[in-house]
Amino acid sequence: ITIRHATIDDILAMQNANLHNLPENYMLKYYMYHILSWPEASFVATTTDDVDDIMDQLTGEEEEDGKILSLPTETKLDPSYIAHTGEKLVGYVLAKMNDDPDSKETEPNGHITSLSVMRTYRRMGLAEKLMRQALFALCEVHKAKFVSLHVRQSNRAALHLYRDTLAFQVLSVESSYYQDGEDAYAMEKRLELEQ
Ligand code: ACO
Repeated sequence: ITIRHATIDDILAMQNANLHNLPENYMLKYYMYHILSWPEASFVATTTDDVDDIMDQLTGEEEEDGKILSLPTETKLDPSYIAHTGEKLVGYVLAKMNDDPDSKETEPNGHITSLSVMRTYRRMGLAEKLMRQALFALCEVHKAKFVSLHVRQSNRAALHLYRDTLAFQVLSVESSYYQDGEDAYAMEKRLELEQ
């Protein structure tokens, strides 16, 4: 599995993974805005494992006893996760700088818009790696002094990742932040350039 910068060619696959993994979804132009404005900040985890098998099955090239193999139903074989580069996207982090002109913050600061890893690739450390890359880029390239994000109160896995693994702190609870009425933890982590 490779972790690399996200490019414009990845945004469809990123949007698909987001639709699959999270109820908070964004229009394609919002992904594009991230990648065009802060090209160094967002990352994808990809693999080329079984992409050939998937394409063979989908195009019906593999035949058994003269019969075309039935189309796969498992989501991991969904062609929409295959980026233009021929890799299968298994995770992403979409990150940005805070560019809200009404923001009261005086220091430059970053924001994690969305993070997810496909189910079969979880608990392998991918989310941690994606996040560390994004935090490093926001700090090094964009001079972010801190990074913020929101997470559902019920999202145990993400909360563990942010609080315990990455040392984010809960700043406040934002009541009914999500469309379904769930509260969010607003979290922040200060960033320091390593000397
Ligand atoms: N239960 C408890 N802790 C967990 C879990 C879990 N199921 N999964 C991850 N963690 C924590 C642990 O502290 C773990 O460290 P450890 O393995 O040493 O114990 C740490 O996170 C790192 O785990 P990773 O393997 O890097 O995490 P993974 O690649 O599995 O991805 C993620 C975690 C992104 C939360 C994944 O479960 C996922 O995609 N969930 C659905 C989408 C989602 O909730 N995204 C975050 C929304 S918030 C936002 O986007 C700003």
